[in-house]
Amino acid sequence: MKFFVDTGEIDDIKDLAATGLLDGVTTNPSLIAKSGRNFLELIAEICGVVDGPVSAEVAATDYATMIKEAEKLAAIADNVAVKVPLTEDGLKVCKAMSDNGTMVNVTLCFSAGQAILAAKAGATFISPFVGRLDDICQNGLELIADICQIYSMYPEFDTEVLVASVRNPTHIIESAKMGADVVTCPPSVIKQLYKHPLTDKGLAAFVDDWKKTGQSIL
Ligand code: E4P
Repeated sequence: MKFFVDTGEIDDIKDLAATGLLDGVTTNPSLIAKSGRNFLELIAEICGVVDGPVSAEVAATDYATMIKEAEKLAAIADNVAVKVPLTEDGLKVCKAMSDNGTMVNVTLCFSAGQAILAAKAGATFISPFVGRLDDICQNGLELIADICQIYSMYPEFDTEVLVASVRNPTHIIESAKMGADVVTCPPSVIKQLYKHPLTDKGLAAFVDDWKKTGQSIL
């Protein structure tokens, strides 16, 4: 399972990249607004830090403007994945860009039917939003299960399931059990994955006991 971080904060991206566990980055207009950074400059900077796919989202909603934005974003670096919304025009952009060899991440997916359309449009990634479905009392993880099952039955679909709107480690673990290809998480959720109280307790005991030996490894 690949790990992407969902943020526009360059310092967080650098920290996570240093762990060697980071496979890519996703951003969206809300995260860019929160960062306060110039969008095009930020994407270029992120692409210099991370080798894997860096999702940069178009801002327009009509085909003619979206395709121009998509081409401009794709020209920033080879590892840019252009992000488009799951609309009729968005999927037309997806088809055109993926036919030209650009990675495309189709975002704002909330149904299996939408995911089928994205795969047919040649999306590199489909981003189903688990947390936002949970927020309206629908089971986000059921959507992941449905998409994984459907895609597995059609070898001609090479779209990767990128689990988005991740709110907690359970979203990650359950998605992994279903065979989802990628999760994109806020930095705080990735950090949570490291933690277990028994790890902390066990380590404290080992550190204490080691001191009692009076030895040093180095
Ligand atoms: C995915 O690409 C989106 O940027 C993101 O996961 C949205 O998450 P949110 O629902 O927490 O805003």
